[in-house]
Amino acid sequence: MISKEMEKAFNDQINAELYSEYLYLSMQAYFSRLNLQGFVNWFTVQVQEEHAHAMGMFDYVHERGGDVRLMAIDAPQTDWESPLACFEHVLEHEQLVTSKINALMDVAENERDRAALSFLDWYLKEQVEEESNVGGVLATLKLIKDDANALLLLDKDLAARTFVQPVIG
Ligand code: FEO
Repeated sequence: MISKEMEKAFNDQINAELYSEYLYLSMQAYFSRLNLQGFVNWFTVQVQEEHAHAMGMFDYVHERGGDVRLMAIDAPQTDWESPLACFEHVLEHEQLVTSKINALMDVAENERDRAALSFLDWYLKEQVEEESNVGGVLATLKLIKDDANALLLLDKDLAARTFVQPVIG
């Protein structure tokens, strides 16, 4: 059984993961408007990953005898100045999520909930990977600047990303 405090913190994080899914879906729509199909694919995978993150916590709360109560998801931004500005936003957002996972682990520590801490370890490692992947694309976009041909080459690369259902926990 998880404590009420822990349950509330997990419910808040489920909302944050679903917001991430929604934000990336909005970015997917932005790249659709630009007709950059490789970027569209990259965000399609990102959306699936965020859904999996939310569901991992959704299932975990139930497994521990807790309650999931879904909340409203904020409207995401819908337009960006450029692909570079969009990826700067992605990195900023992932850094925010990392701080939220750290705060969730602080609650688990305060509640002396070792099972939750062990479960959350996976999310912490995932954040390191997410920030690194996004940072890689962002670095390339900074090099590309206004070179349309180079942007199309990156688009081709991003078309290769595939979704692998994560084994969480
Ligand atoms: Fe669920 Fe991108 O962190």
